[in-house]
Amino acid sequence: MPSGTPTRPSPRRVHTIRFGLAAVSLALISSCTTWASFDQKQIDLASQRASTAADLLFQRLSGELSTAMTNGGPTAAVLVCKDRAPEIAAEIESTTGVDIERTALRFRNTANAPDEWEAEMMAAFAARRMNGEEWKDMSATRIDGEQLRWMRPIPLGPMCAVCHGEDAQIAQDTRRALAEIYPNDNAVGFRDGELRGAFTARVPLTGAR
Ligand code: HEC
Repeated sequence: MPSGTPTRPSPRRVHTIRFGLAAVSLALISSCTTWASFDQKQIDLASQRASTAADLLFQRLSGELSTAMTNGGPTAAVLVCKDRAPEIAAEIESTTGVDIERTALRFRNTANAPDEWEAEMMAAFAARRMNGEEWKDMSATRIDGEQLRWMRPIPLGPMCAVCHGEDAQIAQDTRRALAEIYPNDNAVGFRDGELRGAFTARVPLTGAR
């Protein structure tokens, strides 16, 4: 080839490049669209299972919390939240197959810290509430490989303030018990109706037809 002549790929080479690109895009598309194999019905079913598991966790935890509050006061109930919450969640997972947990933007136990998606969804829930949407009407889902990830907001209710409310609402001995177990507690100062955190679940999508 004389020098100075612009080099161009031969038509055959262009064809090979095009073919190569097409193959790469196909491979990319098929690796990114595992979700496409799940239909809306499977997603709705998995969301329903997550929602039922969250209801169950909430009912059982609230039940044990109020029993402990009646019998031993908030300080005894702190231990229910600490020890029983993960145990009840594990029981629910073993009977329903739904991995259900609680998380929050401002958390008490670092084990409940959100990942990036969870933090984003909680910020979005709070923004939706500012726009007038009710907490009970909100949820979020995302497909992650063979699982559905699901979230639902948890607003602060009247019985929560004794452990998550403002300073004046938390008894001295409760504050002491909390400080002992959670020296870096960030889960105080919430007002009634404010976003306290969220349920977060993982539900297998395979076999859920
Ligand atoms: C008796 C005290 C007490 C009461 C009442 C209480 N909580 Fe908690 N809460 C705790 C403790 C202790 C933890 C940390 C549990 C752990 O170690 O995982 C916690 C953790 C949480 C978490 C997980 C995120 C985090 O901060 O670590 C959420 C969400 C939560 N509480 C919501 C509520 C709601 C909603 C209510 C009312 C329905 C409530 N709590 C009532 C003591 C309490």
